[in-house]
Amino acid sequence: MGEITEGGSMDANRREPVHIPVLAEEVIKAIGAECERDCEGWFVDATLGAAGHSTLLLEAFPKMRLLGTDQDPEILALARERLAPFGDRVHTESTRLSDLGRLIRKLRIDKPVAMLMDLGVSSLQLDRPERGFSFQYDGPLDMRMDPTRERTAAEIVNNWDERDLADLFFYEGGETRARGIATAIVEARHRSPFRRTGAFADLVARAVGRPAGGGKVHPATKVFAALRRAVNEETEELRAGLEVAENWLADGGVLAAIAFHHAEDGEVKRFLKEGSKGGRWDVRTKKPIKPQHAEERANRRARSALMRIGVRKRGAGE
Ligand SMILES: C[S@@+](CC[C@H](N)C(=O)[O-])C[C@H]1O[C@@H](n2cnc3c(N)ncnc32)[C@H](O)[C@@H]1O
Repeated sequence: MGEITEGGSMDANRREPVHIPVLAEEVIKAIGAECERDCEGWFVDATLGAAGHSTLLLEAFPKMRLLGTDQDPEILALARERLAPFGDRVHTESTRLSDLGRLIRKLRIDKPVAMLMDLGVSSLQLDRPERGFSFQYDGPLDMRMDPTRERTAAEIVNNWDERDLADLFFYEGGETRARGIATAIVEARHRSPFRRTGAFADLVARAVGRPAGGGKVHPATKVFAALRRAVNEETEELRAGLEVAENWLADGGVLAAIAFHHAEDGEVKRFLKEGSKGGRWDVRTKKPIKPQHAEERANRRARSALMRIGVRKRGAGE
């Protein structure tokens, strides 16, 4: 979900964290504008999350079927409950973007008419301290969306050398005080390795000389985002997801990709631009689509959202 904001919102009746889908109207409009025969065919939601977008799309397009995938089995279980009313219009599986092509091949479904990637982390993951994504709660320093991954955030923090940590925080997180933070981490971990988000966030706050709670943005925000990206190999996964869209979407199929920081949006932009030059994609968004002010006010997460739309050129896959 990007480095700028953290935290979902609470369902007022159930006091449970909820995830509000971003740019929902814009996603429906963009997909609806491209597909023929009322979007009859398969739609792939490759970052299903709590199925917010998928639910809206299944309601908007009654002939559409959904292949919903997510690398986080805990979130997927929740999505399955929410999608139960749609019965056999829906198929869900736990997979990473980098394995999605294999799954589509295995399922032998018709080529999808649309695909959505709503990147990053769900509020439901952020709001669960035991998943270790958040500096707002104390939990294990984990951050794996796919729990079968071997490397946790603690492993990176406790084992990477100082220069690699500094590069990670600077290049992936945009943290300008990366070197000082990396030095402080290496000094502190000799005494006692980091295991908890709370102690780690405190150390980062001390290293930047700005205690938590002072400003609007927690001083560890960028470091946490950079670590999450490394743990989940988010850049590599995004590239793999874009390749899946190119290889598997039907002629005229539409890709909607929502990024939450500029580097990620840049990946999508470059991919579509190259694809357009190569005659494989029609790009529908010269500039990324951003949320209206009302949405930004209602949902903090939405503030950094940037959506790009591409349409698979007819005949280009032959
Ligand atoms: C921002 S949430 C999606 C929210 C969803 N669109 C909704 O409206 O409820 C992102 C989801 O994508 C999943 N995800 C992120 N990277 C992924 C990847 N490489 N492969 C599969 N799932 C991924 C996360 O586990 C998370 O549940």
